[in-house]
Amino acid sequence: MEVIIRESTEAACGMVAQIIARKVLENPETVLGLATGRTMENVYGKLAAMRRSDGLDFSACRTFNLDEYIGLEKDDVNSYHHYMNEQLFKHINIKPGNTHLPDGTANDLKAEARAYEEKICACGGIDLQLLGIGRSGHIGFNEPLSSLMSRTRDKVLAPETMAQNGPLFVGGDMPKRAMTMGVGTILESRRALVLVTGEEKAAILAESVEGPITSRVTASALQLHPSCVVVVDEAAASKLKDRDYFQWIYENEPEWDDFR
Ligand code: F6R
Repeated sequence: MEVIIRESTEAACGMVAQIIARKVLENPETVLGLATGRTMENVYGKLAAMRRSDGLDFSACRTFNLDEYIGLEKDDVNSYHHYMNEQLFKHINIKPGNTHLPDGTANDLKAEARAYEEKICACGGIDLQLLGIGRSGHIGFNEPLSSLMSRTRDKVLAPETMAQNGPLFVGGDMPKRAMTMGVGTILESRRALVLVTGEEKAAILAESVEGPITSRVTASALQLHPSCVVVVDEAAASKLKDRDYFQWIYENEPEWDDFR
């Protein structure tokens, strides 16, 4: 794991967008794992701008989102299908048939979860998985005590997650369950790219990267990932103990020469 501390939210989001863009340029058929949430809106705005200004080509990319609420139709304004269309897909040249999110309205959720895993495998696995961290320490919707070997399945959301996302809901109540990729699914991605910003995430970020690996904080399982980059702003980094060490690695790692 590498932790990269950037001077501002803007710089952190810009770096994450650049890492994604580089990957797409290097391999136009990249399989991207995508996340929703407030943190990612800035990144998707930047990718949309790169499409407009530099013609960044997503036409051969495939995408798999981490999660979707159970019971919400795709066109529900609160659904992650809707979020992805509004924040990213309609602004870039991705083929709708190449985008995938779990179907939270499936009658048989277990069959839907299995089919989702099979689709990821059929595409050759996820090359780059974008992730945020929730207040409960979740990645995807893998709430505390999720198995660190879990696969895509339905989960009951933690009270902290209800409090985090409930205020975003318009014209209806937030579902208490969601379908999410498992921690095991996420750990199989070839690279994990985590973005964490803001002071309210400082404590959970420190637990995730400097604390023990525990199912109580599923983001801590990323310490087991063979290629995980965590990009944060100064506010989110404010409770890290080893920031000088993280800075040292960042300053001396050739992969980041263009960013310094
Ligand atoms: C959403 C997801 C979640 C969010 C997390 C942070 O698809 O997977 O794990 O990344 O809840 O959300 P924000 O960015 O709204 O703080």
